[in-house]
Amino acid sequence: MEARTRRLTLAMIVVTLLWTGLWSAQARSGFPAIQNEQTVWDGVYSRAQAERGRVLFDAECSRCHGVMDFVGDDYMATWEGQTLRDFYLYVSSGMPPDQHEPIEDFLAYAELVAYLLQANALPPGQTDLTANLDRLDRIRIEGMN
Ligand code: HEC
Repeated sequence: MEARTRRLTLAMIVVTLLWTGLWSAQARSGFPAIQNEQTVWDGVYSRAQAERGRVLFDAECSRCHGVMDFVGDDYMATWEGQTLRDFYLYVSSGMPPDQHEPIEDFLAYAELVAYLLQANALPPGQTDLTANLDRLDRIRIEGMN
């Protein structure tokens, strides 16, 4: 009986902790300034994803571009202060521009962006870059020059 009471009390504590945890997480998301923000330096893509992006780039983009067109001061620095959402949308809505064979798969563009990040010597991480626009919008492009 006593053990049961203790278990009940414990269960109530756990529920209370979960509840306040959820509540404060929700409260936090109301304040964008302290939201979980990242930059391109935080390992936002994976090595394997960038490799898939490289294969795609060679197949779909290299007839018009070399990857070095998109590296460094002359290119990536022009995106300084924007987010990966801006960059992703630019690439996914505009490229390839002749559109006779548009790439349908939105994940393919996350792979291409991952490859371009890698080409800019930004560090890889454990997980793939997302194709979710809200999450991409929380990854800032900075420190590119
Ligand atoms: C048929 C030729 C062609 C192909 C294929 C092509 N592009 Fe482009 N790309 C262009 C041209 C032309 C521009 C310049 C367009 C402009 O400035 O409006 C450009 C511009 C770009 C830019 C940005 C330039 C800027 O000023 O920000 C990026 C990034 C880009 N391309 C990525 C890609 C990727 C990734 C692919 C493959 C999915 C690709 N392109 C395929 C012709 C091409």
